[in-house]
Amino acid sequence: PMIHILNGPNLNLLGRRQPEIYGRETLDDVAAACAAIGAEAGLETRLLQSNWEGQIVDWIHEARESAAGIIINPAALTHTSVAVLDALNTFEGPVIEVHISQVHKREAFRHHSYVSHRADAVMAGFGVHGYVLAMRHMAHLLG
Ligand code: DQA
Repeated sequence: PMIHILNGPNLNLLGRRQPEIYGRETLDDVAAACAAIGAEAGLETRLLQSNWEGQIVDWIHEARESAAGIIINPAALTHTSVAVLDALNTFEGPVIEVHISQVHKREAFRHHSYVSHRADAVMAGFGVHGYVLAMRHMAHLLG
């Protein structure tokens, strides 16, 4: 089975963007860590990032055909995008929402997530380790 790990706007800069909030590890480091967990659990992983809302929607549609589960850090789209929520509502497998930072400790506009209306589990504040923990839970759900 394949797991899609989708990442929204500005996460291409992970490791260089506000490292005091998001840390120094890059999205490539995240991809490698998730692939390693996947290999242990018999899951393939495909990590993707886009700054474009419509691209995230298209990738969720692709996941309908090719993925058993979705791990998604929608980044700022978390707080704005009914389109991403609606796309996730067309996906039948498990969905895990990941936030690197503890969004509930931050500005009030980060406290509401459209995606949480669909997510089966939510990670926040575990740093990039949240992706690894999400992968382990995905392995548990699909195992
Ligand atoms: C984020 C939190 C969001 O509020 C923010 O817009 C991001 C990253 C996180 O991983 O902590 O871009 O999703």
